[in-house]
Amino acid sequence: MKEYEDILERAFRAMENAYSPYSKYKVGSCVVTKDNKYFIGANIENASYGLTNCAERNAIFQAYSNGYRKEDVKAIAIVSDGNTLATPCGACRQVLVELLEKHTPIVLSNKKTEKITDIEELLPMSFTEEDLK
Ligand code: THU
Repeated sequence: MKEYEDILERAFRAMENAYSPYSKYKVGSCVVTKDNKYFIGANIENASYGLTNCAERNAIFQAYSNGYRKEDVKAIAIVSDGNTLATPCGACRQVLVELLEKHTPIVLSNKKTEKITDIEELLPMSFTEEDLK
């Protein structure tokens, strides 16, 4: 996917940094902002399994930690080298629905297949900050 080659390449490189001794499953992610800054993430596991941080959460948290907000994000890539596309887990969808705009492209790849989606498609009828008003 030519348009997203920059974030796909960076996400695949980040994937190599995954710390996943338990699942042995590596995921990489890269956020690109509208001013062309890149923030990468890989999944980082823990012996207390529930404390694992997924790749896409690490990437989007990096972007936010550097001062960027949802309106600044151009796209996010999430990649794996499994047989299927790594689509975000439920916890990550809840995080992404708050930290991305509804139609920010979410680009998935496992080198064999690619798909572009968005958080509205991945998490319809979500509970958000709007519901707390
Ligand atoms: N994982 C991610 O980092 N992102 C996804 O989209 C799916 C799952 C990680 C969590 C865990 O380290 C491993 O993949 C297996 O679930």
